[in-house]
Amino acid sequence: MTAEVLVAYATLHGSTRDIAERIAAAMPNSGIRALPTDDVGEPCAYILGSAVYRGAWLPEALDFLEKHREKLARRPVWTFSVGMPGALARRARPLAMSEAPKIVEAFPSTIQLRDHHLFTGVVNAMDSIRPLSAEHRDLHQHPICR
Ligand SMILES: Cc1cc2nc3c(=O)[nH]c(=O)nc-3n(C[C@H](O)[C@H](O)[C@H](O)COP(=O)(O)O)c2cc1C
Repeated sequence: MTAEVLVAYATLHGSTRDIAERIAAAMPNSGIRALPTDDVGEPCAYILGSAVYRGAWLPEALDFLEKHREKLARRPVWTFSVGMPGALARRARPLAMSEAPKIVEAFPSTIQLRDHHLFTGVVNAMDSIRPLSAEHRDLHQHPICR
């Protein structure tokens, strides 16, 4: 990876990838990587994005911040989150917007953060069934799955 700007993103259902691709396409000399990846190189700047689930970035995006903590302390970093503020009723929107400062607070304090932006992605009601059931069931405890 010899790109001057690395755009790296974590997605479950593709909205964050779409936004990352739009950002990368607008910038010459950028490279784009889905997380997790070890192909990071030595870019001059980073643009990092993650989908937001239950108020937080996806684990692979948080892992990236930790794993590359030293590199990210030496270069400017822009971040974006993809959630659902624009999909909510007007009165519920401030609640979703209030997640942004908490997301940024979870970043390592050494990061040279220039800006963070919260986008609204595609919100599919059916998607909520899979992550919720995957998280709460331990199938290996079930006799059929042993
Ligand atoms: C189970 C579930 C939990 C979610 N939690 C949040 C949340 O806490 N905050 C938020 O803004 N959006 C939340 N969303 C909306 C997703 O962030 C939104 O659909 C986003 O576009 C997903 O990005 P992706 O397609 O890159 O995975 C949630 C969606 C699902 C299905």
